[in-house]
Amino acid sequence: MFRKRAFSSLHSFERIDESLANQILAIKPNRKALVKFILDKELLNLSLLSTEFIMGDSWYKIVSFQDIRYELEVTESDSWQKLISVIAHEISNSVIPISALSHTLCDMIAETDPATGNSELLIQDIGKGLKSIEARSSGLVDFVQTTKKLRQIPDPVFTSLNCKELFDLVSSLIAPVMQNKNISFHFEIKPDNLVLLADKKLIEQTLINLLMNAIEATGGRPDPEISVAGRLSNDNRPVISVTDNGTGIPPENIEKVFIPHFTTKAHGSGIGLSLARRIMHLHRGNITVQSAPGINTQMTLIF
Ligand SMILES: Nc1ncnc2c1ncn2[C@@H]1O[C@H](COP(=O)(O)OP(=O)(O)O)[C@@H](O)[C@H]1O
Ligand SMILES: [Mg+2]
Repeated sequence: MFRKRAFSSLHSFERIDESLANQILAIKPNRKALVKFILDKELLNLSLLSTEFIMGDSWYKIVSFQDIRYELEVTESDSWQKLISVIAHEISNSVIPISALSHTLCDMIAETDPATGNSELLIQDIGKGLKSIEARSSGLVDFVQTTKKLRQIPDPVFTSLNCKELFDLVSSLIAPVMQNKNISFHFEIKPDNLVLLADKKLIEQTLINLLMNAIEATGGRPDPEISVAGRLSNDNRPVISVTDNGTGIPPENIEKVFIPHFTTKAHGSGIGLSLARRIMHLHRGNITVQSAPGINTQMTLIF
């Protein structure tokens, strides 16, 4: 893989690529890391996985390397396809009516005889048409603005974040909305002193986005219920999940919800979940979704 016969020490990796050596040292047990570097003018993408153990008096760390370039390329082109179809849908929704309306307006002007035509009525109609064009294009402008949000996430500032404090803060913002809509809303943390290493602002924003989605999903449903839980996963990673008993996500949409601009709402931006995923990746974590339509939907942040 590294086109070398043997490695005498970790420094041998430094000679290949410094970030590779650093990642090998830094990788935590049972965590994956992705390293990219150039070897003989070729870009390599390696997935690193490590485990640690003690044998006798010695501490050992085993790191495995896997070349995942092919898998990455397949996933990447898959993501592009999905993104392109969402963007194309969004653009044609705005541009097709704009183009049709402009065409109609041109025809109206061409067909009007300046000697006999009622120019006042014509101007009124053209005015209406232009207003529609304006409204449609401002939709496209909004669309471009939201893509900026995705590109402009600040670097996370990691602090020890007490899960209870985070929940209190989010609850103070969101509880009034829940009350207003008669949604029964619960928080639960186990263990009580659960702490995350995370950026407070970014995670707060992520949680609020998930809760807003849950509120929207329960709208108009009987006995709406939303809960937020903090706990430790089986491999001891802090996890926060948001569960609701709203409409749910049909299986054909489950893979699409994290694609930028994917939305099923008339006035949705489709950016909330892709932002959440990007933020969790910046935390070296992830967000996953599970949904049983008609029963419940759960979004899980893994740190
Ligand atoms: N809790 C949920 N219940 C059901 N569907 C959801 C939920 N959260 C997200 N979705 C689906 O995922 C889509 C994308 O969500 P999001 O990225 O937040 O964009 P938006 O809320 O603007 O539509 C939503 O339009 C909806 O179809
Ligand atoms: Mg949303």
